[in-house]
Amino acid sequence: MSDAQTLSPLDEAGIARAVEEARAAFAAASTLDELKEARLAHSGDNAPITHANTQIRNLDKADKPTAGKLLGGARKEIQAALAEATERLQAEAETAAMASEKVDVTVPTRRNPLGARHPLTVLTEDIADFFVSIGWDIAEGPELELEWFNFDALNFGPDHPARQMQDTFYVKGTQQVGTDEIEEYDQLILRTHTSPVQSRSMLAQGVPLYIACPGKVFRTDALDATHTPVFHQVEGLAVDKGLTMAHLKGVLDHFARAMFGPEAKMRLRPSFFPFTEPSAEMDLWFPQKKGGPGWIEWGGCGMVNPEVLRNAGIDPDEYTGFAFGMGIERTLMLRNNIADMHDMVEGDVRFSLQFGTTGRGN
Ligand code: DAH
Repeated sequence: MSDAQTLSPLDEAGIARAVEEARAAFAAASTLDELKEARLAHSGDNAPITHANTQIRNLDKADKPTAGKLLGGARKEIQAALAEATERLQAEAETAAMASEKVDVTVPTRRNPLGARHPLTVLTEDIADFFVSIGWDIAEGPELELEWFNFDALNFGPDHPARQMQDTFYVKGTQQVGTDEIEEYDQLILRTHTSPVQSRSMLAQGVPLYIACPGKVFRTDALDATHTPVFHQVEGLAVDKGLTMAHLKGVLDHFARAMFGPEAKMRLRPSFFPFTEPSAEMDLWFPQKKGGPGWIEWGGCGMVNPEVLRNAGIDPDEYTGFAFGMGIERTLMLRNNIADMHDMVEGDVRFSLQFGTTGRGN
């Protein structure tokens, strides 16, 4: 760089050199800050050219036009070079900013996935809603049950072969008896069906009685496509004066339509349960049945056996009752065409999501 003091306003070569130096410094600047420094050095107040310019007034009058022309041209060139460098560096800065602020809208974002209510939970609530809608109460009983309620009260005699109908988990444990007495038992059972709630409700509430009880039941089955050791049933029980099998059929028809749509058909087929007499199996007409439309077993039902009423302190000459019970998993499988029980118990959220995340209560 020329010495600021020594550049004469008439030094053509010196001025040309100062212009070249300015040009080179601007071109070498790689940031706007560096360019600012170069600008101050080559065209600022202390720049040789600026100094030379202020010296014009000390020249002889005759030399002033030459010097003015020389320096004016030089300053124009320096300004042009500065403008060019500024433009270049601003464009670079902009490109760099664009690159650093770039958003790739195609990059998958991290989501907090919503869970889903299990279809069994939703169906169980729908079932409860149905019975509430026809004026029935929802009843509950313990999952750890006294053998007496699970079997004896329901007319399974001590050696009744029907006791072997169900494969029972026997456990040691405690049970509340009465309001606050806790008693220890060597042999409690995980209830094998929801039917013990019949006797519990009759004893606790008396008659007339209209209850539905959805709940968990247990059997010593291995998990496979159609069995699971823990599953759900819904029990229904009505006890009143003058109830007949026609009332049972009416309620079941109505329930079947609520579960399977207005086209649903149901039929009763004679069967046997110790706690009902007569007993029936209820079949559902199934248009999508594998191998063509046909009847599929949905649950059991019947008129409450007089012995069961008597065991609950109810006079069977005065009152009659009907009862029914069906599997909720089975209902879901039939209703939604689910072929494999595994899907229902494995807890993979993708299974539940197919039924929508917004079941009741969400
Ligand atoms: N408890 C029976 C079972 O688990 C189902 C059942 C059959 C319930 C007939 C009833 C009934 O209330 O009347 O297989």
